[in-house]
Amino acid sequence: MEESLKFCGGRKYKGLAGKIACNIFFEPSTRTQYSFLVAQQKVGMGAIDFDVDSSSLQKNESFYDTIKTFDSLGTDVLIIRHSKNEYYKNLIGKISTPIINAGDGTGNHPTQSLLDILTIEQEFGSLKGLEISIIGDISHSRVAHTNFEIMSRFGAKVFTSGPKEYSERNMNFVNFKEAISRSDVVIMLRVQRERHSSRLGVTDEEYNEKYGLNSRNLKFMKKDSIIMHPGPVNRNVEISGDLMEIDKSRISKQVRNGVFVRMAVLKYILEE
Ligand code: CP
Repeated sequence: MEESLKFCGGRKYKGLAGKIACNIFFEPSTRTQYSFLVAQQKVGMGAIDFDVDSSSLQKNESFYDTIKTFDSLGTDVLIIRHSKNEYYKNLIGKISTPIINAGDGTGNHPTQSLLDILTIEQEFGSLKGLEISIIGDISHSRVAHTNFEIMSRFGAKVFTSGPKEYSERNMNFVNFKEAISRSDVVIMLRVQRERHSSRLGVTDEEYNEKYGLNSRNLKFMKKDSIIMHPGPVNRNVEISGDLMEIDKSRISKQVRNGVFVRMAVLKYILEE
């Protein structure tokens, strides 16, 4: 809570009693969906968790009509995750309820980026001058896209690494060993098999050996560097399970910070 207050500028927190949030997730989620739910309860709001499978989407109602319905119901904020990049573009100007993007396809994941920045700032004070590597399935990762842009804007030198097949132009690609050995922050990414049209052609063990963090390559990391991962994790693929809770890991802290950041975002949008 203290951290949340600090993030909100230190003003006395009044709560959002009487407001109602609706969490509308068209893709699976544990961290984002439930940390929004925890955040909503901590700030005193009502919360609805929309269930796609028991909704009128099953009677062929469209995405647009579903969102328009919640707009008409008088909910105060919609938290939406959808597989379509920029799903929100068709809604702009047509609904009056604020939308928080909880992840759009391979596009962006803004609140993940905010919690990642908070975690890094708690560690190093600022992102300015830090070297940060984002490693793994870059092209399918909304976290990579948002973090690359925002962390660069905050003054970090941001690199990407991992399989060439998943790399992207103009994202400072370096080889894996260089990435882990020069970085203050190493952000490992999940291999997003559900978004792949063809297999990479390596086993999980081979992936871990070439592009994953493991006890053999951990020694190349800088002494005070930290490991992050947005989750969910494919244990023993992009990171070995035995590294998940070592001193360098901030993975659980990221999840904790997710609640504070989402409380702050709700407050920023809704407090009168
Ligand atoms: N980091 C993240 O978005 O995790 P979930 O998919 O579990 O929400």
